[in-house]
Amino acid sequence: MATSTLTPRGSIGVLPRPSKLADESYTDFVESFRDMALIKMFPIMCETGHAALSNAGIEPTHEVPLDTAKEHFNRVPLIQTWQRFMRSAQEMMWRRTRESFAYDEEAHEQLLRKYEGKGPGKLVYDPGFHVPDYARREIHLQPGGYTDDPMGGIVYHYGTKIFYQGMNDQDELHAEVADFSAVPADGKVANILDIACGVGQGTVQLKRRFPGAEVWGLDVGLPVVRYAHMRSVELGYDVNYVQALAEKTGFADSQFDMVVSYIFFHEVPVEVMKAVLGEMHRILRPGGTFSIFEFPNHGSTPLPPAVRFMIDYDSRDNCEPYSPGFVYADFRGLIAEAGFEVADGRQPTNAFLQSIVATKKA
Ligand SMILES: C[S@@+](CC[C@H](N)C(=O)[O-])C[C@H]1O[C@@H](n2cnc3c(N)ncnc32)[C@H](O)[C@@H]1O
Repeated sequence: MATSTLTPRGSIGVLPRPSKLADESYTDFVESFRDMALIKMFPIMCETGHAALSNAGIEPTHEVPLDTAKEHFNRVPLIQTWQRFMRSAQEMMWRRTRESFAYDEEAHEQLLRKYEGKGPGKLVYDPGFHVPDYARREIHLQPGGYTDDPMGGIVYHYGTKIFYQGMNDQDELHAEVADFSAVPADGKVANILDIACGVGQGTVQLKRRFPGAEVWGLDVGLPVVRYAHMRSVELGYDVNYVQALAEKTGFADSQFDMVVSYIFFHEVPVEVMKAVLGEMHRILRPGGTFSIFEFPNHGSTPLPPAVRFMIDYDSRDNCEPYSPGFVYADFRGLIAEAGFEVADGRQPTNAFLQSIVATKKA
């Protein structure tokens, strides 16, 4: 990827490099620090929290109210430290990533502008587009979120490189999502939509898998679709992007054979989630498939106090305001209510994710 103006140190494969070696070393450290806090310390946090409940004479059952769990967990020094680590890792990740890639914001803006008129593929947006307030939250603490920082595309790209702890440097996870997305039973795939496409990592992979199809990526964030378009042009993929709402896409009835979404639904309010499912049903043709790769959701299944503590922590302190609504909703029930047949999809390597195939009844 020849983004020399944007990334003076070039790229490693399809991943742009931070502008200084010091930034790369710093963010490498944050990646490991995050791994320690999230992966290594999480089970210890759970055990310690449950032990704190037991020590207070409370059985750590699934019935313990969240407020009681929080009261006892928050008194444990290790859990206080864990929360600080998680928050700091996130803040360090975004701050240094932004500083590194925004070393020349004007040059970045010029580059994005230059690519707007270039193909293959096109970028469609209306300068008067209204971004709803719910979509302007700084999800995961990303400064300016997906919508309000002109640098948001590249910042999200490199930030998630850290988030994925090196497992997606070359879009490997997105390649798998594209490969595992369900093809309609009749095998006809001429039109594909990647909703909430972010920086288009999945969108280009769908084009790789289906080179003859017309592929669109749609997202509410203009910074992310502008960057997605630039990146796709650089990589030589003929895909199109549009800034639009997944609940009001502007596409025609039955236009698509396949729609794909990857880690999107937990980031919107439940009412929007329902509206998106209705819209996907409208724009898919009968027999068309909607492949959904998403965070786990538990509906009304009772959960251990430590898991509910984590969900609550993440919602409050990592700006995931809508995730509890998603986690505790009957997601598969809502998909069926929207008129789809619901089945399990192919499980990606990341066992944390659930994979669902919703097929529009013929
Ligand atoms: C966690 S990111 C996932 C992005 C992408 N699928 C990926 O694989 O990186 C969630 C995306 O949802 C987008 N989004 C949130 N609400 C939306 C909406 N109502 N319509 C379209 N996109 C939305 C955000 O802008 C963001 O890019």
